Amino acid sequence: MAKQVLVSGGAGFIGSHVTVELAQAGYDVVVADNFSNCDKTCYEGVCRILGKRPPLVEMDFCDKAAVEKLFSDYQIDAVIHFAAFKAVGESVAEPVKYYKNNLLSFLNLLEVASVKGGNVLFSSSATVYGETDQLPVTEQSPRQSATSPYGNTKQICEDILRDSVKAYLGLKGIALRYFNPIGAHPSALIGELPRGVPNNLVPFITQTAIGKRACLSIFGNDYPTPDGTCQRDYIDIVDLARAHVCAVARMLDGKMEQAYEIYNVGTGRPVSVLELVTAFEKVNGLKLNYKFAPRRPGDVTAIWADPTLANEKLGWKATRTVEQTLASAWAWEKHLAEKQ
Ligand code: UFG
Repeated sequence: MAKQVLVSGGAGFIGSHVTVELAQAGYDVVVADNFSNCDKTCYEGVCRILGKRPPLVEMDFCDKAAVEKLFSDYQIDAVIHFAAFKAVGESVAEPVKYYKNNLLSFLNLLEVASVKGGNVLFSSSATVYGETDQLPVTEQSPRQSATSPYGNTKQICEDILRDSVKAYLGLKGIALRYFNPIGAHPSALIGELPRGVPNNLVPFITQTAIGKRACLSIFGNDYPTPDGTCQRDYIDIVDLARAHVCAVARMLDGKMEQAYEIYNVGTGRPVSVLELVTAFEKVNGLKLNYKFAPRRPGDVTAIWADPTLANEKLGWKATRTVEQTLASAWAWEKHLAEKQ
């Protein structure tokens, strides 16, 4: 019988891509979401790609009774936890909202999942490394103190998972530290759907290209980098989703060497903001209206991954070029425009 994987926040950007890859790898997937930060567009896209409708449970992980019910209604072999708020700026303005939601939902999940052992995969972030001059970063690179409540919730949840696997017999945990996930599914049926003005670079680029935004501001061109703009490790969303399939398989096939493991999920390739903009223009054959603007507070100068551990232990490697990914992001934006 196929193993069943619960994807909390499974209707969101990363969750929907992970649901597709898991289902295509032969897992049964249960999607749970409270739709606080997305509508049903991506869930419906997932159903079209798969040609079937994975069970969808509308629920809030802050509601412990709902989590208990979910685990009694379904035989869950592993959980991937995405259900969380994710806007850095909002977390600075409303820290209590972020700590309450992101910590309580994870604690409820762990409390219920750990009863029968349980396999828990936590979606962490490269944000835990902060500003570092040891590049690329490995999983051994020290974490810096978080610069936002959002980042702090990632660090705290990592620690909660680490301590829980030590304490609860049979519980296993993996934290995946994502670098900058971008792009969309090649079908253009699922992708990133930011509400309001996008904070992240690629949705801002595609919305500028389609005419929803007048001009992209590149935040800072006086950084100590080759072209003066920040460098990041942009990871294709489908590649990122595949890393989850590898991590789940490692857990469920009993291949973990430690009860708690951490992996960087990145390409190992630094790309500057300006390089990304230029690549977007080139691959999609268009000109983008952009200007240089002051630095954005809180941005780190440069960060990219050493993905060797994930390559070796998970048997996972990023495969898609930044050009392919930027073409998929543009196809998704055009798909959204056609729907309107
Ligand atoms: N940028 C611009 N213009 C924009 C938006 C972004 O120049 O309109 C630049 C940023 O200054 C940065 C780069 O593009 O140099 C990437 O910015 P993103 O907002 O896309 O991504 P970040 O690296 O800031 O964000 C990532 C993750 C977040 C995480 C954050 C922590 O996507 O989930 O790191 O710093 F919280």
